[in-house]
Amino acid sequence: MAPFEKHIFVCCNQREPGHARGSCDPYAEERLQRAFKKALAARGLTSRVRANKAGCLDQCEHGPTVVVYPDAVWYGGVTEHDVEAIVDEHIAGGRPVARLRLADACINTAACPHKGGSR
Ligand code: FES
Ligand SMILES: [Zn+2]
Repeated sequence: MAPFEKHIFVCCNQREPGHARGSCDPYAEERLQRAFKKALAARGLTSRVRANKAGCLDQCEHGPTVVVYPDAVWYGGVTEHDVEAIVDEHIAGGRPVARLRLADACINTAACPHKGGSR
């Protein structure tokens, strides 16, 4: 079997209500990851692309957070309504969804405007 061409890592981390950083899946429903799996299956992509549950990706303030590798494209504020666009436009079409992408200045930095300058 050929190796997977892409992995979609979907943060499924939970934190207690009211936590300063929030969390991407506060009710532990894993609905977003399941929506990706379903969308991939519906398009016959599951042998090439895998949607993985991920722990905290350390972009909590931008969540729900999703990252696609090997493309290293980060998405923030992703909802179930965005799944089809990501799968159709990016995964199948090769064009990342610009409106959902995290800015480079937001990724792996201790402080960006969304993090309020502290962590
Ligand atoms: S809780 Fe999702 S990135 Fe941290
Ligand atoms: Zn930011």
